[in-house]
Amino acid sequence: MLLSALWRLCSLGTASAAVTVYGQIPFGQTSAATSVTATGSSASPTNAPPGAVLAAYDETVLRPPNPPQDQALSFTLNLAQSNASVAGLSIMQHGSFYGFSIEMSVVTQIMGKNASHLQVPFLNLMGLIQQRSGGINIRVGGNTQDFAVYVDSIPDGHATTKEKSDLKNPTLTPAVLYTKELFYIASNISSLVNVKWYFGIPFNDTNWRLQIAEHGQAILGDNLLGLQGGNEPDYYLAHGHRNPGYGPFDYFGEFGDLITAIRNNPNIPRKNILIGPSLASGPWTPEQMWETGYLDAYKDSLVAVTMEHYPSNNCFVRFNIGSYVDPQATFPSFLTHQAALNFVQMYRNTSNLAREAGKPFIMFETNTATCGGLPGISDSFGAALWGIDMGLTMAATNFSHALLHVGGQNVYYNPFTAPPTNQTTFNQWTVGAVYYSVLVVAEVFGKSNVSQIVDTSNNGPLTPSYAIYDNGALSKVALLNFMNDPSGAHDITATITVNGGQVPQEVHVKYLAAESVSVKTNITWAGQTLGNKFKVDGRLKGSLDIIRIACDQSANLCRVPVKAPGFALVFMTDPTRLVTEEALATFQTTAYTKTMNTATVDPSVLATSNGHSEKERMRLGSTSPGSVSGTEGLRTWASGVTVLLALLSGGMVVLMASAR
Ligand SMILES: *[C@@H]1O[C@H](CO)[C@@H](O)[C@H](O)[C@H]1NC(C)=O
Ligand SMILES: *[C@@H]1O[C@H](CO)[C@@H](O)[C@H](O)[C@H]1NC(C)=O
Ligand SMILES: *[C@@H]1O[C@H](CO)[C@@H](O)[C@H](O)[C@H]1NC(C)=O
Ligand SMILES: *[C@@H]1O[C@H](CO)[C@@H](O)[C@H](O)[C@H]1NC(C)=O
Ligand SMILES: *[C@@H]1O[C@H](CO)[C@@H](O)[C@H](O)[C@H]1NC(C)=O
Ligand SMILES: *[C@@H]1O[C@H](CO)[C@@H](O)[C@H](O)[C@H]1NC(C)=O
Ligand SMILES: *[C@@H]1O[C@H](CO)[C@@H](O)[C@H](O)[C@H]1NC(C)=O
Ligand SMILES: *[C@@H]1O[C@H](CO)[C@@H](O)[C@H](O)[C@H]1NC(C)=O
Ligand SMILES: *[C@@H]1O[C@H](CO)[C@@H](O)[C@H](O)[C@H]1NC(C)=O
Repeated sequence: MLLSALWRLCSLGTASAAVTVYGQIPFGQTSAATSVTATGSSASPTNAPPGAVLAAYDETVLRPPNPPQDQALSFTLNLAQSNASVAGLSIMQHGSFYGFSIEMSVVTQIMGKNASHLQVPFLNLMGLIQQRSGGINIRVGGNTQDFAVYVDSIPDGHATTKEKSDLKNPTLTPAVLYTKELFYIASNISSLVNVKWYFGIPFNDTNWRLQIAEHGQAILGDNLLGLQGGNEPDYYLAHGHRNPGYGPFDYFGEFGDLITAIRNNPNIPRKNILIGPSLASGPWTPEQMWETGYLDAYKDSLVAVTMEHYPSNNCFVRFNIGSYVDPQATFPSFLTHQAALNFVQMYRNTSNLAREAGKPFIMFETNTATCGGLPGISDSFGAALWGIDMGLTMAATNFSHALLHVGGQNVYYNPFTAPPTNQTTFNQWTVGAVYYSVLVVAEVFGKSNVSQIVDTSNNGPLTPSYAIYDNGALSKVALLNFMNDPSGAHDITATITVNGGQVPQEVHVKYLAAESVSVKTNITWAGQTLGNKFKVDGRLKGSLDIIRIACDQSANLCRVPVKAPGFALVFMTDPTRLVTEEALATFQTTAYTKTMNTATVDPSVLATSNGHSEKERMRLGSTSPGSVSGTEGLRTWASGVTVLLALLSGGMVVLMASAR
């Protein structure tokens, strides 16, 4: 294969500065035979006993809970055809409902070392979501943002200092250094995929360091959606960052000081894009914060109301804080609709307050469990189902977005993880099960921005369901089966009837599937997978498999089965048009490589790449010499291949892999 020839060429160090164009690579094509996986794929953490595997690649597989014997296996959903009379319907939701929260200290691992070395798989993974939702919102921040310090330059032109903490560590407060390059990375990404950004203003003390706001606004312009003021301030006292007695009123006062500092700073033109209060909702309840008058006082400065929360934690194991959470014993509590209902309960008032104040309500940082996640749970297929149910329940409770947290190599819950630095030449990326939740939720709401959802669960907590209305009409039904039974004896059947309308002749169904709730491998969405550990380049592999199920129009019903475990997205209207668009887009993939000694992508290509017409794309493709084909063999972060460009869904995705 030509590509592997290129490899050899590069590794011999004889590559010239030629540009190679990969023509029309079929998106779904797979060819396992070309994979070059090396030995030593289990990465050892520096501070772990020899042989220990980094959390992101942990192999723990838990026992699936036994399914109950008295569970009803079929139920009927009698759904109104029009949104007019549906009680409890949500606000209008966007396909970008789920986004990501990326710990500041791991930005360079995940997005790229600098703006000329963006990570190919990251861009592809964002491209997949954009195809479905139109865009993605990413927050850069976390515990590490509060102590961040701006510097003019960092050796090697890097955007941030070497990762200090890749774990959501409640007490560790490393000072992350960053340069303007951080925003150039973000800006260059936004010119390729429709990513919008949130950043956080350091809040460890009130000697405001506002460079994040200044450079962020100057470089990102409208791609900067908001600036967080304070990250989990209710933990500042417990973490030793504030003096005894620090409470909601103190934070209220500090937020006011921040607003004043911004008002007085001529280098921050947009003064009203602040985000808060971002409570961890641990030490302080949301209501305690609202009692300070925060919303009324600051609503003109706020662009969104935010909270952060994780339903569980692994803090005892990681930091000897709190008490031990036993993953095996805890697993069943994630595999039920009750998990999502419990999670949103504490925010019901806040959701209403935010809506009344005209502000989006965002779950700014969440995932399965804080302090790194739980082994066997956070990266299991069960977590993917949990993530879907959480997202849909939050959406039904009028959250506008929820951002899943991404840490480094040392956490179990990452939606995606770049290979450890010393393995980048032979390993590709790893996606966590919750990435599939994001993909699915993006499709649930799609691109219209006029999707509404309602929780229609009526068959107990193990089989939740939702109806989705698009532009006023019933458009999709989402069905989950949290039970685990390989015998098939706990597969369920939902009977969908349409009230005030007629079921279609047939429905189209996409399934999220895997062997059990415990596995971390071979997860498929409508037949396609991103690949298992160290095999992900950010493209779906395998052929798209949408199941058509005939309905009984005379009885006005459709019967849709869902395996135990499984998730089904039922399209009430023919999604063929949508599918065709996606398929077309994916077949336009074209990749460019430059070789080792030309480490940067041509800025003129970058600068003009977004939203190009088909004609222009063809022109771009045809002006470069040489041509090879192949997909699976593309090593996306490896010696020799420095730049890969791919065209996706009307915009160009630049896929860059770096010579290390
Ligand atoms: C990568 O680095 C880790 C930590 O230094 C080490 O234990 C491991 O053996 C290295 N792996 C390879 C493949 O070099
Ligand atoms: C806040 O963080 C900055 C930068 O890391 C540090 O210089 C400063 O001392 C910190 N302030 C407090 C009160 O810890
Ligand atoms: C970006 O990072 C790469 C890899 O470390 C480095 O070789 C290159 O010089 C950097 N580019 C700039 C413009 O600093
Ligand atoms: C990309 O990053 C470079 C700095 O490396 C910057 O000069 C350029 O303006 C950025 N491009 C965009 C579109 O933000
Ligand atoms: C929500 O608000 C109501 C009325 O203001 C109050 O009674 C209730 O306690 C609040 N709920 C929570 C969880 O604080
Ligand atoms: C969500 O907002 C709608 C108004 O758009 C309202 O009717 C509904 O009751 C709200 N849902 C919840 C759970 O607050
Ligand atoms: C949906 O909303 C996003 C921003 O939230 C916007 O970029 C997009 O153009 C909107 N799409 C439609 C069809 O209105
Ligand atoms: C139903 O959907 C239409 C179109 O999106 C919207 O204008 C209307 O407000 C919705 N009605 C309700 C009750 O949500
Ligand atoms: C995943 O699927 C492949 C191909 O169907 C199969 O060969 C392999 O055994 C499966 N792996 C696991 C861990 O289930």
